[in-house]
Amino acid sequence: MKLCCIGCGPGDPELITVKAVKILKEADVVFAPTSKQDKPSIALSIIKDYLFESKTKVVNLIFPMIKDRKSLQEHWRINADKIAKEVRKGKKVVYVTVGDPSLYSTWIYMHNELKNRYKEIEIEIVPGITSIFAFAAEAKMSLVEGDENLGIVPACYDINKVRQTAIACDTIVFLKDGRYFGSVIEMLKNLGFSKDSTLAIAEEVTTDNNTMSLYKLDEFQLENMEQQKYFSIMVVKKNAKQ
Ligand SMILES: C[S@@+](CC[C@H](N)C(=O)[O-])C[C@H]1O[C@@H](n2cnc3c(N)ncnc32)[C@H](O)[C@@H]1O
Repeated sequence: MKLCCIGCGPGDPELITVKAVKILKEADVVFAPTSKQDKPSIALSIIKDYLFESKTKVVNLIFPMIKDRKSLQEHWRINADKIAKEVRKGKKVVYVTVGDPSLYSTWIYMHNELKNRYKEIEIEIVPGITSIFAFAAEAKMSLVEGDENLGIVPACYDINKVRQTAIACDTIVFLKDGRYFGSVIEMLKNLGFSKDSTLAIAEEVTTDNNTMSLYKLDEFQLENMEQQKYFSIMVVKKNAKQ
């Protein structure tokens, strides 16, 4: 009894591994995360053309975007039960997730549930290209070099953690919810980041809706910033050499 989790990459269906495509073509059941009942799964939209449509059953699993831990845990339990039920039938079952499964993915909760409650299920994880590296490729930016360090932090939770990461790292990647980027940039200015620090903001990298803006920190005007989408990434390099 085996379940395979596949990292689907950042959005371009060609940015997925050969191994992932092979597994998807053979899948009996594909589970795909979404935040609401009627909202299409982004992971599914990336890989749908690789499925053998008449054969593969697709099931959306709901992971609501809420912070109430108890309610989240209930959703994780129900979703893991649905996956386990199909695996126990002897089906080839796949869970798909955007980017890589190890980076802020719903998969992490499924993995923990299955590991704890369905020990008999073997798990395979196929890595994917994360939004971070897809962003760096599109921006043609090296994230770190020499002795520099890199911090990754979600912008939408604890602003104190954001501040500490920014202080401690040469390059900082801010993920999860571009609507918080404006307040983070103001904080960086107040932290004394050099005026020459490079700031890059991108939305939906590797898709047709991709946008990319590059600034020097002191050029950035909050009032000119457009409302960013949830699928946005912001990178700040303190000591930009280029
Ligand atoms: C729940 S996390 C999933 C991250 C994913 N596992 C990865 O490896 O990139 C979702 C966040 O990842 C970032 N993200 C994922 N795909 C993106 C894309 N194509 N363009 C910009 N940001 C993306 C955004 O910050 C978004 O809010």
